Amino acid sequence: MKLKDTKILKIDPNNIEIPELHEAANILSNGGTVVFPTETVYGLGANALDEVAITKIYEAKGRPSDNPLIVHISSIEAIDKIAQNISDKAKMLMDKFWPGPLTLIFKKSDRIPQNVTGGLDTVAIRMPSHPIAKKLIELSQIPVAAPSANLSGKPSPTREEHVLQDLEGRVDVIICGGSSEVGVESTVIDMTTDIPMILRPGGVTKEEIEEVIGKVQIDPGILMDQRNNIKPKSPGMKYTHYSPEAEVIMVNGELNNIIEKIEDIRKEKELSGYKIGIMATEETKSKYHGGTIISVGSRMELKTVASNLFKTLREFDEKKVDLIIAEGFQDSGMGQAIMNRLTKAAGYNIVEA
Ligand code: TXA
Ligand code: MG
Repeated sequence: MKLKDTKILKIDPNNIEIPELHEAANILSNGGTVVFPTETVYGLGANALDEVAITKIYEAKGRPSDNPLIVHISSIEAIDKIAQNISDKAKMLMDKFWPGPLTLIFKKSDRIPQNVTGGLDTVAIRMPSHPIAKKLIELSQIPVAAPSANLSGKPSPTREEHVLQDLEGRVDVIICGGSSEVGVESTVIDMTTDIPMILRPGGVTKEEIEEVIGKVQIDPGILMDQRNNIKPKSPGMKYTHYSPEAEVIMVNGELNNIIEKIEDIRKEKELSGYKIGIMATEETKSKYHGGTIISVGSRMELKTVASNLFKTLREFDEKKVDLIIAEGFQDSGMGQAIMNRLTKAAGYNIVEA
């Protein structure tokens, strides 16, 4: 349903010195909503200091308002106005990974309204590296709160067509600026505890973080089955997420067994009339003998899988499959973020091969 006139701006990330970006920045600082590309996924931005503007984000996404937002900045100095107690470890991480796909959680300052943080006394902050995101925030001269620019529950948008599908008619501006390269959201890490804790695996791996600051914890709720009753600490992790229209099953185990198991499930489900999609990889795609087979990337280069993951889930919907059977991956390095998103997309529907 179209609720408002959305201005659509096509901007080339290599040519950002243009009046259109100033126009979008003005709309942002005056309380409007602007969708913009980042290196992870597209974001739906509003002024993080403006409580009324923030309500428009939750409305546009249809998102529960206890799910806190990430505040995006374009310079390190901006952090002092919105967060407190920045530890040395945090400074080392910012030094190494900003701008980039890492979000740090700090004690919040009073300037950040309660509806940005879902009532928490902490705030999540990230400095994106995408040229359009950086410039937009810089021009708007405000911290920009931005969740992923999808309708709540849908796979996050990594391509222009995804944001147009989900949010045209629901926001003031959509900036189309090409594909998001990383493809999964930022890693969220809580810096308020002695040993920092990863609350969401993402574009920066646990191993990369530990190289800089030593041992970190990982929220036990992240990959565990909800039925184990371990509640994820990051409020956003408890909701339905990344769900295409089709049902999703993930098959986990040793690769040859995965392939065999997927073929078994496919044949059985086809007998009951299901249209099957198989989310395969470059290395395995020729091993399947039926169904709609899409390779999500290469197992040798998991970054390619991350980059294509959400796009591929949406592609299966376009092909109108009833069931997506997805191969599992290793649970380390970039595999950790991929497995986390797939586990959630599958609604914890995981089969051991
Ligand atoms: O890559 C990204 O992070 C993208 C782009 C647009 O920057 N943004 C994004 O935002 O993924 P969103 O809202 O879809 O996810 C934010 C995550 C949620 O899981 C939320 O619960 C968690 O960060 N979060 C935010 N503030 C938090 C806080 N104060 N404490 C714990 N978790 C928090
Ligand atoms: Mg999201």
